[in-house]
Amino acid sequence: MVSHHDSPGHETIVIMDYGSQYTQLIARRVRECRVYCEILPWDAPEGSLRALAPRGLILSGGPNSVYDPGAPTLTPQVLAQGVPILGICYGMQLLGHHLGGVVARAPAREYGSVQVTLDGADSPLFAGLTSPLQVWMSHGDRVEVVPPGFKVLAHSAHSPIAAMADESRGLYGLQFHPEVVHTPQGKEILRNFCLRICGCRGDWTPSAFIAQSIAAIRRQVGDGKVICAISGGVDSTVVATLVSRAVGEQLTAIFVDNGLLRKGEAEENLERFGRYLDARVVYVDAAERFLRALAGVSDPEQKRMIIGQEFIRVFEEEAQKLGPVDFLAQGTLYPDVIESATSATKAAARIKTHHNVGGLPENMRLKLLEPLRFLFKDEVREVGLALGLPEEMVYRPPFPGPGLAVRIIGEVTAERLHVLREADAILRQEIVASGLEREIWQYFAVLTSVRSVGVMGDSRTYAHVVALRAVTSQDGMTADWARIPYDVLARISNRIVNEVPGVNRVVYDISSKPPATIEWE
Ligand code: XMP
Repeated sequence: MVSHHDSPGHETIVIMDYGSQYTQLIARRVRECRVYCEILPWDAPEGSLRALAPRGLILSGGPNSVYDPGAPTLTPQVLAQGVPILGICYGMQLLGHHLGGVVARAPAREYGSVQVTLDGADSPLFAGLTSPLQVWMSHGDRVEVVPPGFKVLAHSAHSPIAAMADESRGLYGLQFHPEVVHTPQGKEILRNFCLRICGCRGDWTPSAFIAQSIAAIRRQVGDGKVICAISGGVDSTVVATLVSRAVGEQLTAIFVDNGLLRKGEAEENLERFGRYLDARVVYVDAAERFLRALAGVSDPEQKRMIIGQEFIRVFEEEAQKLGPVDFLAQGTLYPDVIESATSATKAAARIKTHHNVGGLPENMRLKLLEPLRFLFKDEVREVGLALGLPEEMVYRPPFPGPGLAVRIIGEVTAERLHVLREADAILRQEIVASGLEREIWQYFAVLTSVRSVGVMGDSRTYAHVVALRAVTSQDGMTADWARIPYDVLARISNRIVNEVPGVNRVVYDISSKPPATIEWE
């Protein structure tokens, strides 16, 4: 695992997580200022902060009141670092409570967009900003009396203390959320904290990451052998490229074609791998195996499980042919790392199991190489571009690991795969031709389990119904159906019905997520 211990040298801000839904967003905003940061749970073991040698700390918001029994608290290591601290919402209340101020329930819960007046416009935290500020509030408690040594930096109509600081000690508190888009100048505030107050240079760039990462991979791998699975997606491609830049031919990349890819995709992937990867690429055509394993299966979760397991089997067989291997490189990203470090209750609410090429054999006893485990998706894309990978690859819309199997409602057969592939190819061609592909997060066809009556020439038909799905989204967590112009939809529908045998009806899915999901299964 490439960890901070392997790559010293970049300045780090640590975000202590007190349970806010916005904690990851704080991290992304800090990274956007080109400052490296990591998230630690508020109760991280003593010593874990010192190990990271942070330049500054940010205390996130959280759902609790400092007076709740068992509420998360300030552990001794936080103040002991002696570096600047920015408390946001609950984080500010913690500072207020622990340093001798007074925190109390606000007369009215303040929620939404609010204007705050800056009383301390000369504070480095607000450098370059003009009063009043449009900010986002969401709190029940508030600081009523600042602790000794602190002064009030801002107020709003309902919050006499919307920001506070003890500048001699580098301690700051914000009652509002600088990390959300509803605080338009919030990024400036975070930048001021990281650069002006903590003194970071802001030199966490893709090329700095690449150089550090390659050096760390070389150190870790030595003359060992590495394998990785590549799918054509951005994460696995960036991993393979980084590892191949680091250790060249010591890497073998395995591309398993599960037969559930879109039309022309396997060929396209192979061509790109050949062009951009310096590693040996093993291509495995396992289409028939996967189809056999899926025969007779209609349940979506069962399909996912079978595909995940079959993938592992094929991958293990291929790896064995290579002789002894020491490392498995994987495209684990930071959100997965944070997710698996958080509570079991979140995992319990899982809607779909996501089997990626990430879900690889546990029993192979390989050491893991996860060069992207501290990156967010948009950073992976930036790294991909800096590595010289083409935009089509780096901005490829997400495609589910189980592929077309979860876009065929009911049983997956060769015939149904063929119908879906052809319909989907037409949709993709027309979206690209109309220049819409950058506006749409994902677009694809679904083969429904419905047959309907139609008329072609003078005869009755009874054929497949294809659904078109296109959504706009920021992150796939929520989505809206894309307002594709009618004439584009008309062209797609006409072409599918005319060109794809066995389809006589096309419908457009106008559901948002939630309550629907992006995929149909
Ligand atoms: P849903 O359908 O849950 O999809 O709204 C959210 C995002 O996840 C993708 N997705 C998957 N990706 N394995 C994957 O690797 C899966 O089993 C899977 N199911 C959904 C989906 O394409 C969308 O981007």
